[in-house]
Amino acid sequence: MGCFFTTMNINAKSEKYGLIGFPTSHSLSPIMHNANFQALNNDAFYFAYEIKPDSFSTIAPTLSSLFKGFNITVPYKEQIIPFLSKIDDSAKLIKAVNTVKCNEGKMTGTNTDWSGFRDSLVYDYEQDIINKKWLIIGAGGASRSAVYAAIQEKATEITIVNRTIEKAHQIAEDFKEIYNISSITIDQLPDITKTNNFDLIINTTSIGLKKGDIHFFDFNWLNNPMAFAYDMIYSIETDFLKKAEKSGFKTGTGMGMLARQGANAYEYWFNNKPDINIFLNTLNK
Ligand code: ATR
Repeated sequence: MGCFFTTMNINAKSEKYGLIGFPTSHSLSPIMHNANFQALNNDAFYFAYEIKPDSFSTIAPTLSSLFKGFNITVPYKEQIIPFLSKIDDSAKLIKAVNTVKCNEGKMTGTNTDWSGFRDSLVYDYEQDIINKKWLIIGAGGASRSAVYAAIQEKATEITIVNRTIEKAHQIAEDFKEIYNISSITIDQLPDITKTNNFDLIINTTSIGLKKGDIHFFDFNWLNNPMAFAYDMIYSIETDFLKKAEKSGFKTGTGMGMLARQGANAYEYWFNNKPDINIFLNTLNK
């Protein structure tokens, strides 16, 4: 990140963008956004701003005086919502905001995780994702983004499997007005996978973030040889993807999702589509 700050022409009038979270030091967003600002000659810069949990409610209302726009990561994607004057339908249903625009003291929010994920499937991996059967593994915030994307793409079936079944039931409950989601336990997974002919298998769990993590999903259960396996984790080659590849399935990593949620955040702030290759190339360096 340092190299961007030394070569960027930052002055007192430069517009500030950033990432709010705890922790934020691992984030690749500053590299990505600053490379894009430089490429477009925007008088703007992007920095990571770590807020400790005990100061979040004090600092949150002041963010509009600091930033023109910001992204939010764990653990504040839901906690930011009461401080915003408006959020769109995606953020309402996903119950998470990852992008905020500040204008004249008012903050409005959206969610570009779901659209970044959808765009990654379509453009990075050229998947035809309309009218498909989705198996979504995990029931945290990332799972909700996948569910929302599946619904937007007119899924014919959405099944969520989670270790803690209550959390999967809760997502099904939260989306029930617009979609009838099935929620199942890990024990039910072999039988349901054998019979349901899933097209898209999406890992949204954190299994794989740590080296040596073993995923519980067995690709031998799948009866659709054309199924596509996507892991939202971007940092390393995960057990989930290794298993999928070993069984002959096509796979995708979350790197494209990270790049594309960033590009979609830029579009929300600037009403202008950036060159996605800048985002993808900085991450692939
Ligand atoms: P995020 O907001 O990024 O989705 P999260 O809310 O912490 O992150 O969710 C992590 C997901 O990974 C959950 O679905 C979690 O399952 P539980 O709800 O049962 O905790 C899942 N997960 C993490 N480690 C797991 C493991 N070892 N086995 C099975 N599921 C696991």
